[in-house]
Amino acid sequence: MKNILITGGAGFIGSHVVRRFVNKYPDYNIYNLDKLTYAGNLENLADVHDKPNYFFIKQDICEYDTLKDIFTKYNFDAIIHLAAESHVDRSIANPMEFIHTNILGTVNLLNAAKNLWHNNYEGKLFYHISTDEVYGSLGETGLFTETTAYDPRSPYSASKASSDHLVRAYFHTYKLPIVISNCSNNYGPNQFPEKLIPLAFNNIKNNKPIPVYGRGENIRDWLYVEDHAGAIDKIFHDGKIGETYNIGGINEWKNIDLILLLCKIMDSKLNRESGTSERLITFVKDRAGHDIRYAIDSTKLQNELNWSPSVNFEGGLEKTVEWYLNNEKWLNNILSGDYQKYYEQQYFLR
Ligand code: NAD
Ligand code: DAU
Repeated sequence: MKNILITGGAGFIGSHVVRRFVNKYPDYNIYNLDKLTYAGNLENLADVHDKPNYFFIKQDICEYDTLKDIFTKYNFDAIIHLAAESHVDRSIANPMEFIHTNILGTVNLLNAAKNLWHNNYEGKLFYHISTDEVYGSLGETGLFTETTAYDPRSPYSASKASSDHLVRAYFHTYKLPIVISNCSNNYGPNQFPEKLIPLAFNNIKNNKPIPVYGRGENIRDWLYVEDHAGAIDKIFHDGKIGETYNIGGINEWKNIDLILLLCKIMDSKLNRESGTSERLITFVKDRAGHDIRYAIDSTKLQNELNWSPSVNFEGGLEKTVEWYLNNEKWLNNILSGDYQKYYEQQYFLR
């Protein structure tokens, strides 16, 4: 058995990675370590909760002393690090939480791994999950490659860039075996309804205005979350130590076009007259420092590790809408705050 630590496994992407690893690799013990901030929701993992190779540890990555003890106790062979503060608008309102978790939390994990492994690095791996936002903002043309210079422009992306630099510094200085991937915008089931797609879904469903920042001209590259989890699986197993891999959907959308497509899907699913949802679009004040365009060149990952996105966007968005419609309770629990009681119910009241 290998002991694999996944941080941030109760979040959106982390829960898909945990589920994939628990189900696909019965020979791995999967330890999901998560503080359960507002973004952590163990309901995301209700289906794997009772699996014999799944374990949950409630822990803040910013608290080094207890973190170090956990590393000693469970003797991790590898770490997949997703825990982070992830929402750009929150980083603009409150940068310090991002500096704390994303930078200090990452260094704590690096130190805990270095301390545990003591230069015996055979078969060990520290895999850091990062974002395309570290590369900054593109104009009308060009793509981010693995060698694009870092140019983060929000407190969130600057904190993620810092964490990437630290991970690479531990590779160069201490030879810690690391790998990094930088991914574009994810969408799919279980995304917290502060992010564009689930937020717009919820507002459309409830006939509330859909807030589109600026004129909706900003462009993002969208990837279905299970394709990201698949890429993480590949990189975890076959990625080269010390390397960086870009992951993207080859799927650029202007925000306004994406919202128009979502409105069309929602009209059809809710049996509304065509054009009904579109009328809810409301242009609002732009995000401060709003990056214009992100676009990823994932050729390296495609050529070297034979990965490519499998879900086309129209189909993936429709699947996502169906998931949210079929999981009303999940969304309502978040909106009411009840999801935060799940941990106590699962772990203390049984
Ligand atoms: P999320 O906000 O949904 O989940 C983050 C998880 O981390 C939550 O479960 C939260 O409880 C946990 N967490 C936060 N602070 C913690 C702390 N101090 N200690 C322990 N756990 C803590 O995030 P997400 O969208 O799933 O993103 C996961 C990772 O992937 C992040 O590192 C993010 O930067 C990166 N990423 C996200 C996207 C995207 O589109 N969402 C794209 C590329 C990269
Ligand atoms: O590119 C990867 C990044 O994608 C990840 O690193 C982040 O963790 C993730 O949150 C995401 O960042 P974005 O800022 O791109 O995602 P968000 O869903 O917040 O916004 C997507 C776009 O939609 C962006 O241009 C801002 C815009 N927007 C967002 C919201 C919440 C709106 O127009 N209205 C909104 O209400």
